[in-house]
Amino acid sequence: MGKIKVGVAGYGVIGQRLADGVAAQGDMELVGVADVAPTLPVMALFESGMPYDLYTAVPEKINLLTDKGIPVAGTLEELVQKVDIMFDATSAGIGAKNKEIYKKYGVKAVFQGGESNDVADVFFHGYANYEKGIGADYLKLTSCNTTGLIRAVDCIDRKVGVEKVAITIIRRVADPGDYHRGLTNALQVAPAPNHQAVDLMTIMPHIDATGILVHTPVTHGHIITSVITPKEDISKEELLEMFEAHPRIKVVRLADGFLGNASLFKYARDLGNKRGDMYEIAVWEESIVKSGKDVMFAINIPQESVVIPENLDAIRAACGMQATRDEGTTETNKYLGMAYTRE
Ligand SMILES: NC(=O)c1ccc[n+]([C@@H]2O[C@H](COP(=O)([O-])OP(=O)(O)OC[C@H]3O[C@@H](n4cnc5c(N)ncnc54)[C@H](O)[C@@H]3O)[C@@H](O)[C@H]2O)c1
Repeated sequence: MGKIKVGVAGYGVIGQRLADGVAAQGDMELVGVADVAPTLPVMALFESGMPYDLYTAVPEKINLLTDKGIPVAGTLEELVQKVDIMFDATSAGIGAKNKEIYKKYGVKAVFQGGESNDVADVFFHGYANYEKGIGADYLKLTSCNTTGLIRAVDCIDRKVGVEKVAITIIRRVADPGDYHRGLTNALQVAPAPNHQAVDLMTIMPHIDATGILVHTPVTHGHIITSVITPKEDISKEELLEMFEAHPRIKVVRLADGFLGNASLFKYARDLGNKRGDMYEIAVWEESIVKSGKDVMFAINIPQESVVIPENLDAIRAACGMQATRDEGTTETNKYLGMAYTRE
């Protein structure tokens, strides 16, 4: 199989990271990215010398880009005809409209969490249901919180089984740089159950899940606390071992200075990670406690970058690049530089 050709529609928070993720995969080729206007990420692409070709999604407004001197390689429709599969990371709801273009040219597509579930044939997670995505034409990824949450729950479920999950999400209210949520100093409670618990049950129907979400005026990551009822009793040490063996879960310690979401964001910047991104969810070792058979712990969700690995798994499944979850996720992890030893 030659390199799988990939295009990205929507070069925003998620789209620019997906483009970098594809470019890092040795067995995929990034053909180009499409957007509509000279947004800050598009201007940054321009000022960094156009490492990726840019296509316009609204040809009648091409002047929005060309007036700024930004070279445009063609239209979204032309991009679609050059690829095997599209990542659609446009603003929520636009993906369903773009799907008509993908269908017209028989091109597969991977949609993001903001689209409604019926945009896709498979609601996908690289670790929990990789095999369901094999050969599928339209996949939808879980949202950032659900992606991270399912990683942790699936990790326990595969070892000892999970009966029940109850979560509390402390949700960052906006991404860094956003102004549209205003300058806030309040918490806001959302109606229960939150969609992340409902989504978890859609992907892992054998588990009973529920939860509450509280928006908080911060931007550097969500925190989810989970109470999980495993089928078999597990010790704190066994749980820690499971998390440590997972390539996309990083165990951190309060004692080492990882005091909260901002410590992890700063650490990622200190590592020199582009934009301060982290693909891993982090689990605080000191947050793990037992209550009877139940285990409770807190995880950090770097909302801007956590979904990138599972998106790349979706391409691997949809294009039949690897036939099993282990093979597919291992390749993605290898190319993203997170290929820790799995058990
Ligand atoms: N921001 C997060 O933390 C996060 C995390 C996980 C999933 N998601 C999901 O990812 C998707 C994208 O979110 P985002 O935060 O990256 O949004 P964003 O607003 O940062 O980016 C969306 C981009 O799409 C462009 N666009 C709009 N219409 C278009 C069209 N017709 N064709 C091509 N491009 C078009 C916009 O100009 C913008 O640059 C949503 O479904 C969202 O729910 C977001």
